[in-house]
Amino acid sequence: MKPGGIPSLSRVPVVGNLYSLLRLGIVGFLTASTERPHKLQRLNLLGKSFVLINDPALAQEVLVNLSGKLAQGPILNHFAKKFLGEGLLTAENELHNKRKKKMIPVFRPAHVRLFRGVIDDLVVAEFAKLRAGEIEFNTLLETLNQELVSKVLFGQGQSTGELARDIGYMNKFVLGETLQPAPLPPWVWTPGRARARKILGKIDHTISTIISSRQAHLASSQEERKLMIDHLLEVFRNDDQTLDAVAIRNEAMGIYVAGHETSASALTWIFYTLLKHPAIRDRVTAEARASTEQYETQMPYTTNLIKEVLRVYPPVYLLSRTVLEDLSLDGRQIRKGEFLMINLIGIHRSEKVHLGASELRPERHDDPSDPVNSLPGSYIPFSAGTRSCIGASFALVQMLSVVRHFCQRFDFATDHLPEERYEALVTMKPKFRVRAKIYPVSPPGTL
Ligand code: HEM
Repeated sequence: MKPGGIPSLSRVPVVGNLYSLLRLGIVGFLTASTERPHKLQRLNLLGKSFVLINDPALAQEVLVNLSGKLAQGPILNHFAKKFLGEGLLTAENELHNKRKKKMIPVFRPAHVRLFRGVIDDLVVAEFAKLRAGEIEFNTLLETLNQELVSKVLFGQGQSTGELARDIGYMNKFVLGETLQPAPLPPWVWTPGRARARKILGKIDHTISTIISSRQAHLASSQEERKLMIDHLLEVFRNDDQTLDAVAIRNEAMGIYVAGHETSASALTWIFYTLLKHPAIRDRVTAEARASTEQYETQMPYTTNLIKEVLRVYPPVYLLSRTVLEDLSLDGRQIRKGEFLMINLIGIHRSEKVHLGASELRPERHDDPSDPVNSLPGSYIPFSAGTRSCIGASFALVQMLSVVRHFCQRFDFATDHLPEERYEALVTMKPKFRVRAKIYPVSPPGTL
């Protein structure tokens, strides 16, 4: 036993659990962890120590009841803040609560319905460009989702492609700095840091130009407020009614970063699943083709399939927190400054939690007595408690729209699906290309 009486998985100094992690991969390691008897486990990695939470009730306790004693984990807390500024994704406690109150109306159902119009138009236009033959879903869906979030945030006609590339660069840069085994002090100059500073300046300039031009446009036109930026412009005003441009910039960046890669990963797994299970694909296709513009309520099976894919392949597969004051969890002492990691994917895939956990069963989401609906902490693809995903209903509409329009327009199949492997960094994506042959089922423009 180690400090706090939490069982440790490795007694090897310095290297700690690195060997098992390399051998099993992150996903294999996390999945195996929940099948061991311990609800809490201490992990040691290159001299750093983490407490891994493998139990749904304890996950719920941490996310909901103990949230006031916790801050975000090191990636968001120390590193991403420099890039994203203080916004919903990175702010803590008081400021976080204040921001969440302001941001909830931006994502209210009436607004999400308006955003849906922008999403549908873009998805239809993008799929109209596809021709019969082989396509590769990973890149298609990544690019589509980048554009989608940019358009819903900032609208048509902006040079969002370059902005997306710049934000993508910063994302990778921040992750690279975070994962350094021996990080350099912040004042050390490196060519990478100099380039990142330059790109960050460019991002700030582009977003502030977008903010002022949209503000001017709305002031001089009767156009319906259908973009996210329109609602951010409404919500973020200082006491003297001037615009809080820094808050808008930070929230827009946070939405962009949190909103595009997660949905793109989920959608790639959804199409992988449709290719792997022809019977499911046929049901989803039938539902898509029978649906109308009001499809959100007309595709219950597809909605359950999306939920089930988020159980088996959760894009956010691990949640991390920093302990702000000593606390007790499951009768064990956890000290201020420790890192907690909630084993989200392990809990989702655990046979101890979900009956037939390894099987894909969309129907389980319809059953009120199934753990996904009745056991708090057992199904948390969007997290839980004060920090839960504000974009969850937006993400569901976004994914439903993409699946619906694709299945309406194309028949698709493959005779070769590679072995399932995972690339688990910020989000969990397939570490292989998902390819299929597509066959248009009606002439472009007639849907
Ligand atoms: C399938 C898609 C998505 C998944 C699986 C997902 C998952 C999550 C999770 C697990 C968290 C909480 C992280 C934590 O507890 O530390 C989160 C937070 C967040 N998500 Fe999502 N997300 C998705 C899509 C989106 C979209 C489309 C948006 C915006 C348009 C968005 C915006 C946010 C924001 C702003 C937060 C921070 C909330 C807060 O701290 O209060 N997400 N997301």
